[in-house]
Amino acid sequence: MTTFRIRDGVEWVGVMDWDRRLFDELIPLPDGTSYNAYLVKGSQQTALLDTVDPPFAEVLFEQLASLGVERLDYVVAHHAEQDHSGTLPEVMRRFPDAVLVCTPKAKGMLSDLLELPADRFLTVDDGATIQLGGKTLRFIHFPWVHWPETMVSFLEEDRVLFPCDLFGSHLAQSNPMGEYGPCTLVAAKRYYAEIMMPFRAMIQKNLPKIEALPIETIAPSHGPVVQRPAVIMDAYRDWLADAPRNLAVVAYTSMHHSTRHMVRHLVDALAARGVAVEQFDLATVDLGKLGIALVDAATIVLASPTVLGGAHPLVLYAAALSNALKPKARYAAVIGSFGWGGKMVDQLAGSIAALRVELLEPVLAKGAPKAAELAALDRLADTIAQKHQGLRGA
Ligand code: FEO
Repeated sequence: MTTFRIRDGVEWVGVMDWDRRLFDELIPLPDGTSYNAYLVKGSQQTALLDTVDPPFAEVLFEQLASLGVERLDYVVAHHAEQDHSGTLPEVMRRFPDAVLVCTPKAKGMLSDLLELPADRFLTVDDGATIQLGGKTLRFIHFPWVHWPETMVSFLEEDRVLFPCDLFGSHLAQSNPMGEYGPCTLVAAKRYYAEIMMPFRAMIQKNLPKIEALPIETIAPSHGPVVQRPAVIMDAYRDWLADAPRNLAVVAYTSMHHSTRHMVRHLVDALAARGVAVEQFDLATVDLGKLGIALVDAATIVLASPTVLGGAHPLVLYAAALSNALKPKARYAAVIGSFGWGGKMVDQLAGSIAALRVELLEPVLAKGAPKAAELAALDRLADTIAQKHQGLRGA
């Protein structure tokens, strides 16, 4: 691993995790990830901003040694989650003069998670600063990016924002300072969907606190450093916006083709009516792609066969995941096939209760869909197209 210079006295000292394929045992990482730590060296004092996932602790210490770091005055913990904080105990042990800087809430969480000694902490109020000598770090409380204790920091003289998990992406690449192109933005949208979307309202509320800053570089805790802040900030404004797009997400599985037949009919009917559709077979889906589609979707259609009296477990899982991610969708519908009965509609509607969507008329077929059910799907497509009138294009 090598370090990368962001500005004079500001270095990326993180690690690339090319091989990780799952985060929180939940989130697929097709492109790996990085754990970004940064070193800020003033004329008088030195601060380390965040650490790395514990299995990579030695890499972090090698990075610091390669820069000749023998003393740290401050270690800033923007976030208590262990992919950034887990190496703190060892950092604090090896750098006995360092003070651990965090929000008051983070102090409690870090103490609970890592058993750090209370006398090593310096809790900072919203807007507080520390002076490193020609470099001023301003701390801005920004809860829920991605836990309640989070803050961001702004290096005033160099105009670098360190926004913690916000504006990040799960993407390993040989140079964290590389070009931030369209593929990077897709990775950032996947990350937004999986990590940030549940906290959309809190981000909307707090974003003005950093929009007022003269930011020239954004250095998040995962993924590439952003050298053109408007690229990611404009994208976030779009993803955070309350209005969904003219997009329906159809998430389904099918055991004997009846539900698949219904899905194909509905998707064709929606397309014919000018509604953009993304169709996901939950038996093979990349959940990250489903998440990306949910960022913009106005309607979610859950399509399932009945299994042992209820929805197929894969569809229940997708419903529960959607419920947790809290996309901005306004409408939802359940369609599917049953053999002899069941409570699939109530079960799936209950699974997405937190979305507070308008539930559209379900369409259920006994066995294979017949003319009556196909006509009902056409009416459902009519309803969705009518509901989507006036929405932005997908
Ligand atoms: Fe990358 Fe929420 O930790």
